[in-house]
Amino acid sequence: MFSLQGKSAVITGGGSGIGRAIGQLFAKQGATVHVVELNAEAAAETVGLIEQTGGQSHAHHLDISQQTQVVEVFQHIGQVDILVNNAGIAHVGNAENTTEADFERVYQVNVKGAYNCLFAALPLMKRRGQGVILNMASIAAVVGITDRFAYSMSKGAIYAMTLSVARDYLAAGIRCNSISPARVHTPFVDGFIAKNYAGQEAEIFDKLSRSQPIGRMGKPEEVAALALYLCSDEAGFVTGCDYPLDGGFIKLNN
Ligand SMILES: NC(=O)c1ccc[n+]([C@@H]2O[C@H](COP(=O)([O-])OP(=O)(O)OC[C@H]3O[C@@H](n4cnc5c(N)ncnc54)[C@H](O)[C@@H]3O)[C@@H](O)[C@H]2O)c1
Repeated sequence: MFSLQGKSAVITGGGSGIGRAIGQLFAKQGATVHVVELNAEAAAETVGLIEQTGGQSHAHHLDISQQTQVVEVFQHIGQVDILVNNAGIAHVGNAENTTEADFERVYQVNVKGAYNCLFAALPLMKRRGQGVILNMASIAAVVGITDRFAYSMSKGAIYAMTLSVARDYLAAGIRCNSISPARVHTPFVDGFIAKNYAGQEAEIFDKLSRSQPIGRMGKPEEVAALALYLCSDEAGFVTGCDYPLDGGFIKLNN
């Protein structure tokens, strides 16, 4: 079960955290993993980790907000059976203290970047009459979280794009789903704690852990396990769905 043998998987932001864990698991299950990354060093590191365990992987240095470059890279890859739209950036702020530049930056990567990859991958999937897309949303798409104005906007867009693509490509044999994690312990979390809460790192880490009723943050490997199911043939009946992976955040926080 859950074999990805012979499949080609493109994972954006595969150089770190959740994307890296997905890349490692997909390669273990037999996929050739294409790591699409802004950070070339991080991408090379993921490729190295996959190759060490006998997997197949290639790094592609790319800013997903640049459509022409995205199309070029995807055309070069050629076969895309699986697209994981995972790359994303964080921002802390409300509607008043989020500047136009902050808003634009989050939009360019989290929204336009995902759209660019869909734009580039869908024709390749259509040509083969099959494909699976997995978008990384967030609980912030559906829950009001303090000071996440731009970020929540971007994840709401991911949620809506998932439904739109799932609907439009039913007849083409392409499935599209999303995962909405609560807090997962990755460099993304460490980075924004360091940037926004300098001097209170331990206290904020603890607070963020306890905001999941289960009492801890998720692990990248736990997101990867669900990603594997959703991108496997075993999930052939699943499309147009968002899967919270949240330690009870949405339904048990009372
Ligand atoms: N960690 C969490 O708590 C959490 C929770 C919910 C959702 N998510 C989402 O999961 C995804 C992955 O998060 P993570 O925690 O693994 O993040 P991370 O910061 O550890 O990794 C993100 C990767 O994306 C890459 N990236 C950033 N901008 C890019 C661009 N323009 N082009 C190409 N690559 C780019 C970065 O270089 C980085 O390697 C993000 O979309 C994030 O919003 C994370």
